Amino acid sequence: MHGGIDHRIGVLFVCLGNICRSPMAEGAFRAAAQARGLAVNVDSAGTASYHVGHQPDPRAIAMASLKGIDIAGQSARQIERDDFYRFSHIIALDRANLEGVRAKAPRDGTASLAMLLDAVEGRRGEPVPDPYYGDTAAFEHAWSLIDLGVHAWADRLLREVDALRA
Ligand code: 4NP
Repeated sequence: MHGGIDHRIGVLFVCLGNICRSPMAEGAFRAAAQARGLAVNVDSAGTASYHVGHQPDPRAIAMASLKGIDIAGQSARQIERDDFYRFSHIIALDRANLEGVRAKAPRDGTASLAMLLDAVEGRRGEPVPDPYYGDTAAFEHAWSLIDLGVHAWADRLLREVDALRA
């Protein structure tokens, strides 16, 4: 696909509040995709509704900003029914949120469900721990896992797009 977004692949990152981990994943994945020339729809959402309409947590904004990625314009939303048809991949940041996503999935939803570190060799099923009640080190740790995961997913999806094109 040249000169536009490939509408066959779309990625939704999901955590609990959509203010810490999934906004960082959305920003980091967007940068990783762009670096590979992978033009796909990217978004994030929470399984919970506590923070709907809120900007990402200032610590998440600062962490992303240190890496040259601006996530300040994001606004939290809760995952909704349409997401299971609009996105080809729904990627949860930890096990509890994968189960939360599964519980909301319509029977005929088309998205495939996975965890962020599933794409990383030898790290399948590992969570990105919630940094919300943690310190700066918790955000740095979350970022490092997110960075690992999004690059692995970008590589995998690039191969999927290439296979569709072939
Ligand atoms: P997130 O972090 O799921 O990475 O956005 C959290 C944000 C808010 C809460 C928990 C986790 N909370 O309990 O309000």
